[in-house]
Amino acid sequence: MAGVVTVVVVTAALGAAAAAEYNVVGYGARPDGRTDSARAFLAAWAAACNDTGGGSSTAPVVRVPAGTFLCSAPAAVDSTAWIQFHYAHGLKIRGGTLDGRGEAFWACKAAGRQCPPGSTTLDISQSNNVSVRRLTLLNSKTAHLSVFDCAGVTLRGLRIVAPAGSPNTDGVHVQFSCGVRILGATVRTGDDCVSLGPGTSDVLVRNIRCGPGHGISIGSLGGEPGEVGVRNVTVDGAALAGTQNGLRIKTWGRPNRGHVAGVSFARVTMRGVRNPIVVDQNYSPGNLNCPGKSSAVKISGVEYTDVEGTSATPVAVRFDCSGSYPCTGIMLKNVNLTYQGEPAQTFCRNAHGSASGVVSPPSCLSS
Ligand SMILES: *[C@@H]1O[C@H](CO)[C@@H](O)[C@H](O)[C@H]1NC(C)=O
Ligand SMILES: *[C@@H]1O[C@H](CO)[C@@H](O)[C@H](O)[C@H]1NC(C)=O
Ligand SMILES: *[C@@H]1O[C@H](CO)[C@@H](O)[C@H](O)[C@H]1NC(C)=O
Ligand SMILES: *[C@@H]1O[C@H](CO)[C@@H](O)[C@H](O)[C@H]1NC(C)=O
Repeated sequence: MAGVVTVVVVTAALGAAAAAEYNVVGYGARPDGRTDSARAFLAAWAAACNDTGGGSSTAPVVRVPAGTFLCSAPAAVDSTAWIQFHYAHGLKIRGGTLDGRGEAFWACKAAGRQCPPGSTTLDISQSNNVSVRRLTLLNSKTAHLSVFDCAGVTLRGLRIVAPAGSPNTDGVHVQFSCGVRILGATVRTGDDCVSLGPGTSDVLVRNIRCGPGHGISIGSLGGEPGEVGVRNVTVDGAALAGTQNGLRIKTWGRPNRGHVAGVSFARVTMRGVRNPIVVDQNYSPGNLNCPGKSSAVKISGVEYTDVEGTSATPVAVRFDCSGSYPCTGIMLKNVNLTYQGEPAQTFCRNAHGSASGVVSPPSCLSS
């Protein structure tokens, strides 16, 4: 597995000397796009982390100069990430492009052959106070950027691009993390632009452009017993174009407990989105895994404010909630979605809430 990296990494792993710099070229990396520079990157990182810096508060810098560097993935069998930052508190990443070169891997999957496991391009895990700015991620084999078990992560100005037909190439996946902000991102991939998994709270997504792709998703939840829920999610400012879904919450049709509480979607435009607003509590792809069972994930307090645009299918608003734990506190305010120039349709099952302002098609929520 190989990919190409041009990235400037700045780390504050330890208190350090006045911005000591560790240039990967000084550790043997070659900007020729052909020489495997992975060991040099790791050596530069190790030296920076080792820099205890004589009391200065300025963090050491790992510098990747202009050029294209080839970095093979670590051979470690249990690594599912190409580039992984683990316990990197205070990590800062500034600029650069990570090209996962997923094409051959997707082709292998499409051919139904036995393929290697594939890898997430960038995995940030067990790290607090992380800041990433102006990073571009291309053609990941699987998800582009994973945030796992972190507190306080700001991702600003991400650009993520992979073909619409590339499988499972989520843009940003967040799980077991709190205080994650995704600001000013452009995401065009073959799967979710942003997906928020179990154990995620206090998330802000502001000004995102999404599409093609599968939209902004909370879930899938309730896939495992004893899962932690999702709470306090704000999506403010989103433009979705040509996506499979717009704003989606999905839970498995299985009796596992869980919750989604306190979600606000505001200032959202849709252009030709197949399922602009969707809550699906009967998620069961291929009708495997107990179809017909009722989800025990409780969804409450979900607001949709100032959502407008066009649906690519007749039903633009679908609240298909659990029979045993109906959705409550769903609020629609100034929602206008059309299908072929006419008001679209709505579908409600076990869905309670209210509507205010201009809501077209009219709400089917029960009080
Ligand atoms: C870490 O620092 C120590 C003491 O300065 C030094 O002996 C050692 O070689 C350094 N290790 C690395 C990987 O730079
Ligand atoms: C983040 O950094 C600040 C200041 O450096 C610190 O007070 C805070 O505890 C850190 N937060 C986490 C979650 O580590
Ligand atoms: C919700 O999350 C935001 C960050 O998006 C945070 O500022 C706010 O304090 C959180 N609210 C609660 C009630 O925890
Ligand atoms: C909804 O938006 C369409 C297209 O912009 C507009 O023609 C229509 O009047 C709007 N409907 C309402 C009820 O405001």
